Amino acid sequence: MNQQRDSFGSKFGVFAAVVGSAVGLGNIWRFPYMAGENGGGAFLIVYFAFVLIIGIPVVISEFIIGRRGQSNSYGSFRKLAPGKPWYLVGLMGIFAAFIILAFYSTVAGWTLEYIFLSVKNIFSSPAGTPAEVFENFHTGSFLPVLWQLIFMILTAIIIFGGVQKGIEKYSKILMPMLFLLLVILSVKAISLPNSSEGLKFLFKPDFSKVDSNVILSALGQAAFSLSIGMGCLITYGSYIKKDNNLTKMAFSVSIADMCIAILAGVAIFPAIFSFGLSPAQGPGLVYIVLPEIFEQMTGGTFFSLLFFVLLAIAALTSSISLLEVVVAYFTEEFKMKRSTATIVATSLSAVLGVFTTLSFGPLKNAAIFKKSIFDSCDFLATNILLPLGAFFIVVFLGWFYDKKQTKDELSNHGTLKVRLFPLFMFIIRFIAPLAILLVFLQGLGIF
Ligand code: PHE
Repeated sequence: MNQQRDSFGSKFGVFAAVVGSAVGLGNIWRFPYMAGENGGGAFLIVYFAFVLIIGIPVVISEFIIGRRGQSNSYGSFRKLAPGKPWYLVGLMGIFAAFIILAFYSTVAGWTLEYIFLSVKNIFSSPAGTPAEVFENFHTGSFLPVLWQLIFMILTAIIIFGGVQKGIEKYSKILMPMLFLLLVILSVKAISLPNSSEGLKFLFKPDFSKVDSNVILSALGQAAFSLSIGMGCLITYGSYIKKDNNLTKMAFSVSIADMCIAILAGVAIFPAIFSFGLSPAQGPGLVYIVLPEIFEQMTGGTFFSLLFFVLLAIAALTSSISLLEVVVAYFTEEFKMKRSTATIVATSLSAVLGVFTTLSFGPLKNAAIFKKSIFDSCDFLATNILLPLGAFFIVVFLGWFYDKKQTKDELSNHGTLKVRLFPLFMFIIRFIAPLAILLVFLQGLGIF
């Protein structure tokens, strides 16, 4: 068995890989419609606050646990807290990764179909309006499942390659590409007539919309978007070299993630308003409203191709981080070969994925707690497992793990100044757990 653990090669490689995980459908597909449904700028402010007071400290905490533990999310807890049940938090994360990967690949698969439709330039006629095209496609069975499986295979191919020759190599190419595409699309959107209406909508806060549900959604969105609470950043943290600055990395990654979500909003809302459409369209926003716009826009085919390629890239670099959580667990804990672990994890996730995909069509009526299979998976992972995971991660580091060890890891054995360490400890001991708990319980309607 190969005892030498794989690791990221360069700082930029770490940055690209972690931003690759963070930036995904959450930023470009989920964030705009969440903001659209939940009060625009007001949602943005709450989301922003959560990223700062909870997101960044949790990112740092996960990096510390992973780099200290030098193992997958289960193994790292095992090492840092031998004989204690903290490893359950790691296991919960691996379970969450499975579920997220399943419903994530459903939506990612749609993206591949839309790349194909863009090339063929047939969003509507003769197939119908964009809404009808989307409805027919995503409620079907063969095509959405086929695309989902293709997407899973692409993910698996990158993971086969390993950390440096798979994850890092592809992230370093794909992330700059994604950024460039997004900038081109934003410039195009802002240059459309009446685009300022969309910007106003995105940035002007409507606090009357903010209720406990919106706040829980903003927390869920912040956690989902930063890929925290489920061991992904523990796993990636374990591949970060000992001389990288974890605090700096956490800040730059979180800020990049937020900027890209906002940039996605800037690419989308001005276009929506410019064409007189409505922003609150739920999950169909990018698959219905945008194609409608692309149809009317000069150069629409080109821009729609750019957009869906962008979305596919974003999804791919996130799904590899989800699959890696499970693969790292299988290889390290069950001594599987990387290739075997990849095949097993991909297959298991694909099985659940087929159900989440079919839950828009043939399995529409198979509801769990009045939600479709897809919505249940999203709700369970995003609103329950991620906040719980984030809660236990900060509580572990804040209250149970030796503070000196934490400081040692964060300061790279005392070689870095960590002036904000007391503030960090205060946040992960009090502010973050309390905020997560309050929002979580309130959102579940417990008080
Ligand atoms: N952060 C990703 C996104 O915004 C989703 C994700 C969640 C990826 C959790 C990995 C882990 O799309």
